[in-house]
Amino acid sequence: VIVAGAASAARLKADVLLLPVVEGVKRVPSGVAGLDEALSGGLQSLLTATRGRLGEVTDTLTLGRLGPSRLALVGLGPEDVLDRVRLGNSMQIAVGRLGRPRTWLAVQLDPGLAPGVDPGELAEAAVEAAVLAGFSQATMRATRERKGREDRTVRRLTLIGFSRLDRPRMEAAAVVAEATNLARGLVNSPPSALTPEAFAAKARRSGAAAGLKVEVLGPAELKGRGYGAILAVGGGSVAPPRMVTLTYTPSRAARSPGGRLLALVGKGITFDSGGISIKPANDLHFMKGDMGGAAAVLGAMTAIGRLKPPVPVVGILCLAENMVSDRAMRPGDVVRSGAGITIEVTNTDAEGRMVLADGIHHAVGLGATDIVDIATLTGGQRVALGPVAAAIMSDAPGLESEVTAAAAAAGERVWPLPTFAEYEGMLESPIADLNNSPGPNASAITAGLFLKRFAAGTRWLHIDMAAPSWNRVPGLSEVPSGPSGFGVRLLTRLALTMGAKR
Ligand code: BES
Ligand code: MN
Ligand code: ZN
Repeated sequence: VIVAGAASAARLKADVLLLPVVEGVKRVPSGVAGLDEALSGGLQSLLTATRGRLGEVTDTLTLGRLGPSRLALVGLGPEDVLDRVRLGNSMQIAVGRLGRPRTWLAVQLDPGLAPGVDPGELAEAAVEAAVLAGFSQATMRATRERKGREDRTVRRLTLIGFSRLDRPRMEAAAVVAEATNLARGLVNSPPSALTPEAFAAKARRSGAAAGLKVEVLGPAELKGRGYGAILAVGGGSVAPPRMVTLTYTPSRAARSPGGRLLALVGKGITFDSGGISIKPANDLHFMKGDMGGAAAVLGAMTAIGRLKPPVPVVGILCLAENMVSDRAMRPGDVVRSGAGITIEVTNTDAEGRMVLADGIHHAVGLGATDIVDIATLTGGQRVALGPVAAAIMSDAPGLESEVTAAAAAAGERVWPLPTFAEYEGMLESPIADLNNSPGPNASAITAGLFLKRFAAGTRWLHIDMAAPSWNRVPGLSEVPSGPSGFGVRLLTRLALTMGAKR
């Protein structure tokens, strides 16, 4: 998307002029009185007709009275709860709702319509929304007609009423949004097409294009390293596991002196049938998205490779397919992880923590000082927070506040779960060091604490985004629906803001 600034919308030949408006503004403010006059009171009519709810679009044709062919009010919801997350969601949902054509968008910020909105944040949200609007789930439709309807690309974006455009910030927003679309596309891919091997090949291509070093461990190498947990999970599938490491190294000159190495570790179950502890048939097809964590890590790494923060970062993708076969791991099996910690498999559907166990151990071996894992890990996250916020757990308050700040600034929500010692006892097994499935009580927490064991004292933070990765709650209209690419924005921001501190 080409982003430019303009002083006025009057002569702009854009398809749509968007006017963000907070709930409850009922009179045309002086700043946009000219638009209202050009439309003989049309803007006032729109204001009267809209409620300004988040993502609400109220629009009219301008019939040659204004440069842009259409004028659309975009609701931001109530001012008192407006934050970066809701601003981003408003813009993304609204652009998605605009009729066609909408290849050239203009956004005008007026302080009377949208009091308190930060121009930099709105500009960033608009760029992101323009890029995110280009994503389509309908990638496998056979006919041109049905595909054509799905061409959603926004090619130009003109920002009006922003005193000064922060170019690097706009470009970064576009890069991060492209990376988010990469993750969304992977989550949306059918599991027969996106096997661990295919995912690794995609990571090689995307990683190399972003200037990253990419290494892939196949089943033989995983075996050689004793990575028995990921191997056990993938054992039931004809498509064997892979572990991919993407490495970003800042130039010597740019490198911050803190000596930190950030590791991002993603759960990449390309399909989660549950294994022998098989899942019910309802909504099982959504388990093609159980690689959302690995997709977020790959997306973030490509953005990091392009935006070049001063901190070195490794991304680790733990790729496996959890299937049912005569070679699948069984309930009752005990597997030895790469860390040497033994795991009793009490439920083959608790596979995510097993692949991550080896991935986190791998990060420790690479010398990571800070490990952030991200996963569609538990139904417990879904029950507790739904798609509105991802659950986080950490044993490092400094890292936790960095992640919390990065998420807030990037427009994604996280919320902490406790790590009380009492929960740890639930991980005990009569036969092995850990059991993989302590049952339904506090299941998101015990899953996180299981992972913590493998971080071996390294600063660690866990992100469970089971529900935010793919919003499919019909009543949740204030969060964009479908594959979200959750995590790409916050992980990229984390790397960008991680300086020499500590
Ligand atoms: N991939 C699932 C978690 C999940 C559920 C993600 C719904 C997205 C939407 C995970 O592997 C799983 O099956 N978790 C189980 C663990 C249980 C067996 C201990 C769960 O949370 O129910
Ligand atoms: Mn599972
Ligand atoms: Zn899973």
